[in-house]
Amino acid sequence: MVSNALARQTREDSRVRLIDQSPQSVDMTRELLEGLRAPQKSIAPKYFYDEQGSRLFERITRLPEYYLTRTETGILRAVMREVAELVESDVEGRSGKPVLVECGSGSGEKARIVIDGISPQAYLAIDISKEFLVSSCEALSVDYPDLDVYAVCADYSQDWSVSEILDTTAPLLAFFPGSSFGNFEPDEAVTFLARAQRAISGRGSLLIGIDPPKDVSVLEAAYNDSAGVTARFNLNLLTHMNWEFGANFDLSGYRHKAIYNPIQERIEMYLVSQRDQEVRIGGERIFVAKDEVIHTENSYKYSYDRFVNVAQEVGFRCTRHWTDEAGLFSVFLLGA
Ligand code: TRP
Repeated sequence: MVSNALARQTREDSRVRLIDQSPQSVDMTRELLEGLRAPQKSIAPKYFYDEQGSRLFERITRLPEYYLTRTETGILRAVMREVAELVESDVEGRSGKPVLVECGSGSGEKARIVIDGISPQAYLAIDISKEFLVSSCEALSVDYPDLDVYAVCADYSQDWSVSEILDTTAPLLAFFPGSSFGNFEPDEAVTFLARAQRAISGRGSLLIGIDPPKDVSVLEAAYNDSAGVTARFNLNLLTHMNWEFGANFDLSGYRHKAIYNPIQERIEMYLVSQRDQEVRIGGERIFVAKDEVIHTENSYKYSYDRFVNVAQEVGFRCTRHWTDEAGLFSVFLLGA
């Protein structure tokens, strides 16, 4: 009881503004059924991120095999001063402190590096995982008392705009770290970038983390860690289906699988059915055969040329790009 009272107290005192644009669960159930009825069954990756999923993902980011987060964080720390200068000169005479907009903010750890570097007036965090979003924004606003923090619970793969939330002409820095860009299918990737380009055109830049292709063994280890956290993360998708959408997946009937597809240059993630089985969801029964796979995520790896081509296609120009010494990860600053 005491801890509940305390939690409420924190919320009431909070300066974080929550803008709740969470998708409707009817639409979600329809989308899920569509994915599970298709010849190649799939569940969209955004369903990974219930509260437990967001926690497991935080653990993934700290795994020894998962080179992405620590490499990107290192790059960001090293180049932030330069980013701050470039961002300032990239805004066509706009003045005032910038607004930082992050898509898929998660724990908000990387945002702290950027906030320290560019001292924005406001931070707008967009994430689908509401509880996790709110608590990481609360923590952030305690540590940065002068910063206006907006927690926007939304699916950033859908249409989003900053101007509906924040009526300002301040310079903008959009931030999309973690190679989450690689989780879009190529057509969605173009749509997302085009939307970002429109949102910041003439008033700022996009700072984006991209994972280039590399040795298959390094890539596959990053998605098949020896502690089994990625497997638990992948399987948690089914737990999420069970509690939120009333499905009855039996977790012991599925196994995690992640392999690199060198033709498409992507890691493919699956749940492999261990036996013939049936699952009930949204009043329907779906048959899943032994060894049949449910596709859960792709993680595309972009070479420099491939990424710059997509960015230029939608009207971005590449202001600068940085990598670590080993060339494991890259960060791009794009001007719109
Ligand atoms: N953006 C991350 C990536 O592509 C997401 C991710 C990491 C992920 N590990 C995963 C998604 C395991 C599903 C399963 O690297």
